[in-house]
Amino acid sequence: MVGVSGGIAAYKAAELVRLLISAEARVRVMMTRNAQQFITPLTLQTLSLNPVATETFSLTQESEIGHIRLADSADAIVIAPASADVIAKAAHGLADDLVSTVLLAARCPIAFAPAMNVHMYEHPAVVENLAKLRARGITIVEPAAGELACGYEGKGRLPEPAFIVEELIRMLSRQDLAAERILITAGPTQEAIDPVRFVSNRSTGKMGFAIAKAAWRRGATVRLVAGPSSLPTPYGVERIDAVSAADLLRATSLNFPWCSVLIMAAAVADFRPAKPATHKLKKNPKGMTLELAAIDDELPRLAAQKGDRLLVGFAAETEDLESNAVDKLRRKMLDFIVANDVSRSDAGFAADTNVVTIIDAEGRRETTPKLSKLEVGDVILNRLVSLRTQRSKPSDSKAHRLASASN
Ligand code: CTP
Repeated sequence: MVGVSGGIAAYKAAELVRLLISAEARVRVMMTRNAQQFITPLTLQTLSLNPVATETFSLTQESEIGHIRLADSADAIVIAPASADVIAKAAHGLADDLVSTVLLAARCPIAFAPAMNVHMYEHPAVVENLAKLRARGITIVEPAAGELACGYEGKGRLPEPAFIVEELIRMLSRQDLAAERILITAGPTQEAIDPVRFVSNRSTGKMGFAIAKAAWRRGATVRLVAGPSSLPTPYGVERIDAVSAADLLRATSLNFPWCSVLIMAAAVADFRPAKPATHKLKKNPKGMTLELAAIDDELPRLAAQKGDRLLVGFAAETEDLESNAVDKLRRKMLDFIVANDVSRSDAGFAADTNVVTIIDAEGRRETTPKLSKLEVGDVILNRLVSLRTQRSKPSDSKAHRLASASN
């Protein structure tokens, strides 16, 4: 359910509804009287494929919709844009129009996406009202900063409709990673030959970025250390850019004490030019030899100080997938490894789909069918959750010993 209140950003509700429909949501729209000054119910009715509710007590609408039925039928409600007025009404439990009445009757998760003049947004009354809503478990999608329609600069712009959709997806997802701080590495690294050339690999970062997106949706706090990649940062995720393997591994080590889970999905270079030139190398008709120096593996060093952290590695292989992966799992002292056949065109680097085999330290194996990288991300995260649950339960023998000791 999308609630639209009065403000110039109301026209962006059209884009929000369109995005929700293309994400296959069933969308109902309700509007305040003021919202209808900015955008017509007909526009939102056409886009949402459903009648738009505007009146609490309309004979025709009431018999068809009913504000209680409207509140009951929603899986989630987002008020976008949320004006200072609707925020105040919700904070104080007023119910003098359709939107505020539905908000009071609703039992589903609710989000507000405020949009208003920066001085209004910073007014202590609005700040207090938003704090009240937050304290009740309502999600506030922070407005963006920038040029405002009123001519002022500052915080108050309606967040990108795509970000509001992300918040809704998170609200409706199981929050089984809410206690986790997940550090994910992704993408290739670039090792300089000279100021304009480098050695790299075919990784695009798609798999690591997809895991970051899936983990945030499931409630995790996510930091993404990304090698050079043109992919947009997943919403809600903190991104740390790196270029070379040295940069990426340094950022990983620095953030390791912060995390509760490390997922090394990056394709980190194994070699780097031993002596990168400080100037552009000139053409040489005789050719040239590039001396490469080995780059140390970071995972075993981090594994030695892991404590309760879970460590997940990737194995990019073109042959002997499982035996190479098992070897890496042991060598790198991982909790589990995700083995990837990168010679396939529908899996591995650059593809939007993937097929992986997950092998854990106890020898359990699971091969996924061909799935989108986002779905593969969820399979990996499911394994993480079950490992965490397994670790947090006292083992049977420990429980047995405790039980017999207390008898
Ligand atoms: N990795 C790492 N530090 C490195 C190189 C790799 O932590 N210097 C991590 C990768 O992020 C991945 C795992 O180790 O999670 C396996 O990477 P991969 O390149 O498949 O394996 P390598 O150990 O480099 O072995 P090989 O290249 O011989 O297959």
